[in-house]
This record gives sequence, structure tokens and C-alpha cells, in this order.
Amino acid sequence: MKWPNHGGQPETIKKLLHMKEDKSLIDFSANLNPMGPPTWLSDALHQQYETITRYPDPTYSKASAAIAEHEGIDQDMVLVTNGGAEAIFLVAKYFEKGKALIAHPTFLEYERACTHYHIDVEDLIVDDESGYTLPVQLIQDRFAEKDVLFLCRPNNPTGTVIPEEDLQLLLEIGKKKDTYVVVDEAFVDFLPTTIASLTSWLSAYPNLIILRSLTKMYTVPGLRIGYIMAHPTVIHALKNEQIPWSINSLVDAVVPRLLEDRTFVDKTKVWLHGESRYVFSCLKKLDYYVSPSLVNFYLLQDKKSPNRTDELYYFLLENGILTRHTHNFKGLNGKFIRIAIRSYTENQHLLTALQKWRKE
Ligand SMILES: Cc1ncc(COP(=O)(O)O)c(C=O)c1O
Repeated sequence: MKWPNHGGQPETIKKLLHMKEDKSLIDFSANLNPMGPPTWLSDALHQQYETITRYPDPTYSKASAAIAEHEGIDQDMVLVTNGGAEAIFLVAKYFEKGKALIAHPTFLEYERACTHYHIDVEDLIVDDESGYTLPVQLIQDRFAEKDVLFLCRPNNPTGTVIPEEDLQLLLEIGKKKDTYVVVDEAFVDFLPTTIASLTSWLSAYPNLIILRSLTKMYTVPGLRIGYIMAHPTVIHALKNEQIPWSINSLVDAVVPRLLEDRTFVDKTKVWLHGESRYVFSCLKKLDYYVSPSLVNFYLLQDKKSPNRTDELYYFLLENGILTRHTHNFKGLNGKFIRIAIRSYTENQHLLTALQKWRKE
């Protein structure tokens, strides 16, 4: 079958597999926060209704000022984008026709964006046996001949986090060799408070470009909110490539309130910490492999039948559970499924189904 490129598409999967339209599925395939969106957001968007009758501020000044303040950086180091996806494509455009390194398995869009802008890409495959640890020495050896390295931290689909020491080493070498390091932090807000974003490193490393998305934490995939943080010269160049009015007026208006709502983020972190520990311990007891994830999704494989992952995927679907296949993640090739942490009740459905699979 032609597997869809992304998660969060239950209707497409039903059509592809000729399933009944009214078959109810719990969507574990998109890694969105089940606690969101924040309850106040609906009213806030309604209050902004009138703004859609006018052209938005082309500089998105409310959103970018709020992001700069929130991150503790100057506004000329921020570019608001139409989701994390636009951020990725704008950055790829910056390296058009250049040479890139991508550490896989990772989010597909880096490769797609590089291909779109005729970037010559070298893949590095990081395997599960190493716990998805970056081969830092190998990357260092390649740096002189590359313009950019794409990394995802925390990484989608593994949920793992590259250690700070490794990143620092790569950024230092990159600084000397004129190689940029792009770090996609779309899931950074889900990390335990002991692991920080790399924002404070921006002043030391002009070769660091950070990508963000508010989509996952605030459960707003339909709004399209992302941003890029980098040295002012990079931001200036990227801004010149961005299409006019890429950010709509609703987004410009609600970003400041979203970023102010620390209670929502803190509550999510507390919930996630407890729920993920519980889910992982149940899965390990059932003898499933779980990737060493620190965030709201993880890779799973049946250790007893590692070659039956497709069968497991279909079994879960029959049991009303949609997970994310990994056929299009380089280095995974369908050997795992990616599963989001959902609410307690939804996770119980998953655990019950996985228990049933064990007994099959
Ligand atoms: C690592 C990563 N970066 C960026 C994105 C894109 O985010 P957005 O929906 O804000 O465009 C995703 C979406 O799945 C993602 O997983």
C-alpha cells in the first residue's frame, strides 16, 4: 500500500484500507498534546474575528515581539513562520544548491525541503542499537565539505535528545568550518525542565539556527504557528524569501497569549511525566521495545516478533487504534510504529490491545 507521509490522517487510512467510514479510531499517530488547546483559545479567536476583514500586519509585530520577549532575545533574531514546516523550507532555501547532512531516522520534511532546493544531501543512519546516539566523530569528519547539518532535538520519531556536549562540539567545529547547524526544537516544550532549549546558545554560535513550532504543545495544527531564531543576518535573509502575509491576523493576535500561558505548559509537563512513566513501565512489562523517549511519543516494537510490525499495525487498527507507520523513516523502514502518549483512558485502550496481541 502507499503509506501516507504523515500521521494524523485517520480518514486517509480508512479509505486506503477500505475500512468503514464510521469506524471509530483513537488517533495515536499524530504527536499532539491531548490536553490542548488551552480552553481560553476559542473565545480569544472569536474576539479576533473582525481582524480577518483586514490585511494582517505584514511584519507580524505582535507575535514576533512576544516571541523575542519570551525567548529573551532581540526581535531581529526572530522570524515568525507559517508553522514549523515553513521554517524548514525557508531554511533549506537559504542553503539552496549547497551540501547538507541529515541524521536519520528523523522528520521527513528536512529531506523534502533539501530536495526541493536542489541541496545535495548525505544521509547518516543512526540505529536503535546505539540508543539513537549521534556518530559525532563521523559528522565532524564530514563537516568541512558541508554547508549545513539538520538535527531534530527532541527527535521525531524516536523522542530522544542529543546530549548538550555533542551539540556544543559540533557547533564549535561548525563555527570554524563555516558549517551551520539547524536544530528543530518543535517538541522542546515537552521536555523535563532539566533540559533546556538552545536559545541561550545563539549569541555564542552565529552558525546555529533554531526552528520552533507551537503546533504540538498547544494542539493547533490548523492555525500554523512556528518561528525561526538565528543571527540577525540569517533572519534578514530568510525574511526576504518569505511570502507576504504568510502569518494570518488570528495567529499574530493569539501568539502573545499562548506564550504567556505557562500554566498550560507546566500542567502538560506534569501530566506527561506521570503518564509516560506509567505507559512505558506497562509496555516494558509486556516485553515491548520502547525507544528511550523523553517526550510525548515513542517508537514501539514487539521484541518477541520484531518482523511482524505491519501485522501489529493492522491488528491495532482493527482494535480502533491508529498508530504511525515508519515505512518512510530512513533507518526504520517499517520495523517500528510510532505512538503518541494520549489521555489515561485512551492509553488504557492501547495497553489492552497490546496485551491482547501478546495472547494472539
Ligand atoms: C520535528 C517536527 N518539526 C516540524 C514539524 C512541523 O510542524 P508544523 O505543524 O508547525 O508545521 C513537525 C510536524 O510533525 C515535526 O514533527
